[in-house]
Amino acid sequence: MPGYKKKQDTVQETLILSAEQYVPAEMVRPSISEFQRTVLSYYERSGRHDMPWRHTTDPYHILVSEIMLQQTQVERVTLKYPEFIAAFPDFTALAGAPLANILRVWQGMGYNRRAIALQKCAIRVTGEYGGILPRDVDTLATFPGIGYATASSIAAFAFNLPVAFIETNIRRVFIHYFFRNKDPVRDDEILPLVDQALYRKNPRVWYWALMDLGASLKKSVPNPNRRSVHYTKQSAFEGSDRRLRGQVLKLLVSRGEMASAAIIRELGKDRDRVLKILAGLEEEGFIRKAGKKIMLVS
Ligand code: ADE
Repeated sequence: MPGYKKKQDTVQETLILSAEQYVPAEMVRPSISEFQRTVLSYYERSGRHDMPWRHTTDPYHILVSEIMLQQTQVERVTLKYPEFIAAFPDFTALAGAPLANILRVWQGMGYNRRAIALQKCAIRVTGEYGGILPRDVDTLATFPGIGYATASSIAAFAFNLPVAFIETNIRRVFIHYFFRNKDPVRDDEILPLVDQALYRKNPRVWYWALMDLGASLKKSVPNPNRRSVHYTKQSAFEGSDRRLRGQVLKLLVSRGEMASAAIIRELGKDRDRVLKILAGLEEEGFIRKAGKKIMLVS
């Protein structure tokens, strides 16, 4: 029966199934080896092989690219990553750079706290680890700005270690192929499959492939991640606060220091909203006050 597949692969030779015992092929979970073939052949055919961070295994370069890719589209990172690496070529250069310089280069990326976190990572690597980024996921996850998923992606891409982890594109692939009719889906249901499916011969290629397939599914099917209990969409409110934070920092990068009244005037925004943004930036260690003046922490 073309297009249909028996529910239990193991007994397919011995059973003659009646029509109602068949389930459409698209409703059956693939076997792990079928799934691996699907993912790897997708990558061979249509993978994004030209991304610059896929042509290096230098842990510093991988760290920079993974932090950049956390909340920013690949196209934008592709433009910014080479500039950042040229300006701060290694852990030592980044650790010793004035924050204002780092933020200047970071401009256009958004979520500036990532730039501060990157520098803190560099300071820790040079100060505590003799300039060598640790390979261990649990240790990496204690670094600023590095959660478990980023720690794992660094372990996979820099060190080719077979670590099982979930991030948004990986989640999309697994929900699409293994949880077609389930809603909601939890990550603790997905993770054992991620572990089983891991192509241990080459974790680096495996995760490139999963991420690329996940990104392409976004364009071809209704987002499977909407069935994830971990799914959150950024609200318009968060988006506009983020933009305003960026505008404040950009102003301070170009002017050096300013009074809050001048910032409010210059940006033409609501006073209370700007003050709230400034308070947040101060608390997170981006800016500090000296008398009436506000400046970047360097
Ligand atoms: N290639 C390497 N790391 C990646 C990531 N985090 N997202 C997309 N592609 C990648």
